[in-house]
Amino acid sequence: MKKTFILSCTVLLTLCLAGCKSSDKEPAYKDANLSIEKRVNDLLSRMTLDEKILQLNQYATGPNDNPNNIGEVIRRLPSEIGSLIYRTEDPELRNQLQKVAVEETRLGIPIIFGYDVIHGFRTIFPIPLAQAMSWNPELVKQAASVAAKEAWYSGIDWTFAPMIDVARDGRWGRIAEGYGEDPYTTAVFTEAAVQGFQGEDMSEPEKLAACLKHFAGYGACEGGRDYGYTEISRQTLWDTYLPPYEAGVKAGAATVMSAFTNISGVPATINKYLLTDVLKEKWGHDGFIVSDWGAIGQLLNQGATADSMECAVRAFNAGLEMDMMSDCYGKFLKKALEEKKVSLAQIDESVRRILRVKFRKGLFENPYTPSTTPEERFLLPESKALAQKLAEETIVLLKNENHILPLSSKNIGVIGPMVKDNYDVMGCWTAHGNKADVETIWEGLQKEFEGKANLIYAKGCEIEGDDHTGFSEAMNVARRSEIVLLFLGESRWFTGEDANRSQIALPVIQQELLRKIKETGKPIVLVVSSGRAVELGTVEPLCDAIVEMWHPGTVAGTPIARVLSGAVNPSGKLALTFPFSGGQMPIYYNARPGGRPLQGKYTDIQTAPLYEFGHGLSYTTFTYGELKASATTLNKQDKLTVSVDVTNSGDRDGAEVVHWFIRDPVCSITRPMKELKHFEKQMIKVGETKTFTFDVDLLRDFGFVDENGDRFLEAGEYQIIVKDQVLKVEVK
Ligand code: GLC
Repeated sequence: MKKTFILSCTVLLTLCLAGCKSSDKEPAYKDANLSIEKRVNDLLSRMTLDEKILQLNQYATGPNDNPNNIGEVIRRLPSEIGSLIYRTEDPELRNQLQKVAVEETRLGIPIIFGYDVIHGFRTIFPIPLAQAMSWNPELVKQAASVAAKEAWYSGIDWTFAPMIDVARDGRWGRIAEGYGEDPYTTAVFTEAAVQGFQGEDMSEPEKLAACLKHFAGYGACEGGRDYGYTEISRQTLWDTYLPPYEAGVKAGAATVMSAFTNISGVPATINKYLLTDVLKEKWGHDGFIVSDWGAIGQLLNQGATADSMECAVRAFNAGLEMDMMSDCYGKFLKKALEEKKVSLAQIDESVRRILRVKFRKGLFENPYTPSTTPEERFLLPESKALAQKLAEETIVLLKNENHILPLSSKNIGVIGPMVKDNYDVMGCWTAHGNKADVETIWEGLQKEFEGKANLIYAKGCEIEGDDHTGFSEAMNVARRSEIVLLFLGESRWFTGEDANRSQIALPVIQQELLRKIKETGKPIVLVVSSGRAVELGTVEPLCDAIVEMWHPGTVAGTPIARVLSGAVNPSGKLALTFPFSGGQMPIYYNARPGGRPLQGKYTDIQTAPLYEFGHGLSYTTFTYGELKASATTLNKQDKLTVSVDVTNSGDRDGAEVVHWFIRDPVCSITRPMKELKHFEKQMIKVGETKTFTFDVDLLRDFGFVDENGDRFLEAGEYQIIVKDQVLKVEVK
């Protein structure tokens, strides 16, 4: 008896000691020497169901500064919440919230703080649409990197960017947020932005987790009306809307945001084909998907579900991991599990994905943001210099009759509602951009033309409205000037979310001002500051030159001033077709040919756009040599290199962008008349010749994709198109 008792005590003591020893040891998930997968699984094994479900939710701190996101902001902020949308521009609140999460909860899982850092945080860069016009992915990457740095020091871990929705209908205000109408262009800038935000390792300081949005086909909403219906075939999904997402996943984007839209009857929020079959199974994305704001709850409005419980079940079963702000997961997922409408294995897999991103972001090792002053965080000289350089490269010279630009006049009228604007020129989605930081167009012009010309200013009119009282002063200024710079454009609220416009011409009051100025007989340089390709068909004949400067951001004045003075030779080219009329929407270059090429035209206006995709003038001229190909007959596994020499035959150094298009005139699935597959930008000095080269991967560049996302290459003729040259090659 006694022996047994002693033996049992000994065993018990040993077990306790072993237990003490293991409880003294840090749990595996806190051991940074272990693999992320080991840490994820260890942590997951320790979590209660409630803790798991909280990770699947994102709430917001404080009031919602996106006026489109209507609805009750969830007030309770449990410390075990998965994510918070963070609206403050300093990290103090974030660190306080994070301290509770990390140091006062059972498992200390850090919160990931997200925000819309779309084209800058405090230093605002040109809108993404403008950035595409630079055809300079390296600069776009640098801009994203600066935005990440400013945001990271302000308490942000995760940006809801890049927005990569291909868009072809300028009535849709969110066209400003993406990189234009072309799938390939958008894919290239997606990669640049993801690399800029995340760097090589997003756990490093000053980096943000990226979020590809809005998955997918959001830009196709009917009539340009946001949140609306999109009729997108599987074929179009694959050949038009998915390529940028595939590029973003390949670039390592940490997360994806599902779109508000209804895709041919199945809202993106519950679209299992997209969220699971494509993103996870076909592309192997192992991060997580966050819904758009309240989108899970909005399934009720879309007629997809009968109640909020069903919203939660259908979104979750489609493969949507995190619920932004609808709280359907928070309220109903546990019940759904009890009713066996979802499984614990699914919940674990979703939580696993969220924890994986948090570990990859380094939040367990570095949950807090270091303290810095605003001066250390924001608007560094090098950041503003980058903003200026990128803005300069986004400016597109659309028309330059008789080389009236660059300016040589001594008395210059500077007229229009955009001239002294420091708010609208930042564009939509300006995060913590502050109008007090903005260098206005007027300030930029004064700096650039000081001692060179006399500038005479008049506002003329507001951006919109019907107050004509400023017209007479504007006409007087025009009469006293040799030439008029007329700065017209759009309010920042004309683009962005839920900014749907039935017509895309300049506001009538601005057009009336232009016509009044025209009456004075002075030459007019129209400079447009807008978030879309506005309709200029009827005003174009009144202008001697037209320049599109987009919404350039914080440094709004110097870039356009330097282009107008000739200090900068404009190199911007259109990544979006400029319509003759808004009535042409949707209009885009890579359209498929019709059965009667000489018919199917508009009977009331021209059918051709005002300015084609790729259009953009320079102050110099570039002469293209013959296209050269390494072969013109190839087998499918062969490589092909094509090149063209470009000479600067003008009198001014300048940068040229060569766009390489292909055409497959006959294919089992009909294809667009031309498709951009490569572009390259080079500076060419006067008299210099540079060679531009395109290394063609036949399957990637000549091949096409079918409705299952499978790429194929058919034998036959293919064309390589540069400017007006067409080089034909045969694939056996
Ligand atoms: C908005 C936008 C989305 C944004 C999110 C958070 O509704 O659609 O782009 O990231 O809410 O602000």
